[in-house]
Amino acid sequence: MIYPIVKYGQPVLEQVGESVTVFDGDLEKLVADMFETMYAAHGVGLAAPQIGISKQLAVIDIASGQDPNAKLVLANPVIISTEGNESVEEGCLSLPDFRASTGRPRKATVRAQNLHGEEFTMEGEGLLARAFCHETDHLNGRLFIHHLSMLKRDSIKRKVRKMMKAGEW
Ligand code: NI
Repeated sequence: MIYPIVKYGQPVLEQVGESVTVFDGDLEKLVADMFETMYAAHGVGLAAPQIGISKQLAVIDIASGQDPNAKLVLANPVIISTEGNESVEEGCLSLPDFRASTGRPRKATVRAQNLHGEEFTMEGEGLLARAFCHETDHLNGRLFIHHLSMLKRDSIKRKVRKMMKAGEW
């Protein structure tokens, strides 16, 4: 099932998600739906709050469906270490059509649980490190615009408000 994606302005995107504690068939179904929704939207990551579910759950696939081994499920993820910094253009399915150069660690190690509740740690570099940080941020109520300068962030917020008023958001 493809869910509609929640856009910036909805409170669920700025809430801290609840921990995932039950690893059952319902969670498997939800994760399958999240992958389906992410691929349909041409994203490389999707967090549960983006489909209106305030849970510490995210999916990532930086290979965009081309490599089954690249599919990652992160339940209750925590970034445990980072290294370096690089600014790269970044976007978010909840802020369609807005992109901005965003500073992120060049390497990041995440600790999370998989679909079966087993804990793992994984190091990512470049786009994968960025995805770990971006999705973990979502689960803590943060969006990439929080990493921009106030000037840049306010400019995006103003444009969104204008689109909301015009009924285009
Ligand atoms: Ni996002």
